[in-house]
Amino acid sequence: MPDRILVAVAWPYANGSLHLGHLAGCYLPADIFARYHRLKGDDVLMVSGSDQHGTPVTIRAEQEGTSPQEVVSKYHAEFLDSWERMGISFDLFTTTGTENHRKVVHDLFLSLYHKGNIYKDTMLLPHCARCTRFLPDRYVEGVCPHCDNPNARGDQCDNCGKTLNPEDLVAPRCGICGSAPEFRDSEHFFLRLSAFQEPLIEWVRQQDHWRSNVLNFTRSYLHDGLKDRAITRDISWGVPVPLDGYDDKRIYVWFEAVTGYLSASAEWAQRQGRPEGWQEYWQAPDAKAYYFIGKDNIPFHSIIWPAMLIGRGGLNLPYDVPANEFLSLENRQFSTSRQWAVWLPDYLDRYEPDPLRYYLSINMPESGDSDFSWSEYVRRNNDELVATYGNLVNRVLTFTYRNFGGAVPAPSELDAESAALLSRASETLESVGGSLERCRFRLAIGQAMGLAQDANRYLNDKAPWKTLKEDRDSTATVLWVALSVIGCLKTILSPFLPFSSARLHEMMGFSGDVRDGGWSWSATTDFLPPGQQLGKPEPLYVKLDEAVVERETARLGAEA
Ligand code: MF3
Ligand code: ZN
Repeated sequence: MPDRILVAVAWPYANGSLHLGHLAGCYLPADIFARYHRLKGDDVLMVSGSDQHGTPVTIRAEQEGTSPQEVVSKYHAEFLDSWERMGISFDLFTTTGTENHRKVVHDLFLSLYHKGNIYKDTMLLPHCARCTRFLPDRYVEGVCPHCDNPNARGDQCDNCGKTLNPEDLVAPRCGICGSAPEFRDSEHFFLRLSAFQEPLIEWVRQQDHWRSNVLNFTRSYLHDGLKDRAITRDISWGVPVPLDGYDDKRIYVWFEAVTGYLSASAEWAQRQGRPEGWQEYWQAPDAKAYYFIGKDNIPFHSIIWPAMLIGRGGLNLPYDVPANEFLSLENRQFSTSRQWAVWLPDYLDRYEPDPLRYYLSINMPESGDSDFSWSEYVRRNNDELVATYGNLVNRVLTFTYRNFGGAVPAPSELDAESAALLSRASETLESVGGSLERCRFRLAIGQAMGLAQDANRYLNDKAPWKTLKEDRDSTATVLWVALSVIGCLKTILSPFLPFSSARLHEMMGFSGDVRDGGWSWSATTDFLPPGQQLGKPEPLYVKLDEAVVERETARLGAEA
């Protein structure tokens, strides 16, 4: 029985280009995970979309003198293009601007409202007299009451990770003009989070498969005690409140955006012509939902969204929330305003997707922060991807192509080393699969590269280029064994390196798609038939010049 797996990925704000931090934070791990499960034959639904309603979008529109809708349309189109070129294989990447999304958000809001889990109350909200507007949470800045960080925002402190309300800040100031806001009474809707404290504690207790960073964060958050949260705001850009008399309010982006996972699943099912199809992923008791997010989004996915789901009832809670830590760039935080970033569209205009996917996988900020540097990018490309894997493929394919009539040679009896390498390959298929299932991406790609190293060692020992003249039979056997292991690597590396795996599949003379073979391999001539015609060998990866390092570092922080 195939498993049913929902791969839910954080919704990026459609207010600027995506950079490597986003990719390493959630999109790449989600894609590797989805590709692996599809290969395995599981039913995968991978969804996300542009978060178009956040304050970041309205602010960007104001800065650029255009409308929020124009900002959103521009970046949504760019995101779709980046996914395509980077190989991020969403089943649906939609937006929060659809009619369907509005309807799903309204249904959820009303369901919680009628059960008393959403209620009306007044609250004090920061209003800036100089800007003549209510200030969105993240546009109030001040000192964090928990850790004294002087630059905490009214929604969250990036230093200690605690979620905040604007009135919690010490010495609050307007994030737009810097003046001190006054707090005004305003009527709003609240999510009764306090009612979910016990059920959430009970649920989190069962999640011993979660990463320890996510588990610890969530436990201490619950330990501090859950407070009810306002889920509407005095703004005009967003999903309206589904009750009469609240035309000047909108549903707060957090309540609304997380609901996107559900609305996107429904939209996907409609597009499939099976409007009920989303239920298989949300209601079947054995379906599993994985939420791939960056660590700044943990509480919304491990507490608030689960509370909303418990309140609504009848929908699966997250099975896992494999949040990544942060990626830095040349040891400094990514910063859009300071142009300290490598933008995906720019990267893709100059380089291939797979070397980046390789480096970000083997260096994924999985259990701790990690750093991207151009010198490491070049080094890992040249010394690992090209020297270990690319050269293995290239020398075996070229040598076979030239000396065995461009076809897979026939093996005769296997010696002990050959048999050992082939069983190493089977074991690696197993262990990489096991690591991927536990969302251990760094480990998984390291295990795969270990097999490539062993294959190189085998080839150096056997030196088929020396034995060709005097012993054509055993040379043919060695080459068949090496080709067979390369066929295994093509499969286990394809979730990480989909573009080059597809090319390799073709070069080895296989027909159809590299994904057709599934997550399986065996050391038999059924898998790799002697006589199979090889394609013309071409290098899978190219060595990068050291000059890349200087050129690319010089671009960082430069004015756009
Ligand atoms: N756009 C928000 C962010 O990037 C929220 C992303 S996750 C969501 O932080 F599920 F809430 F959309
Ligand atoms: Zn102001």
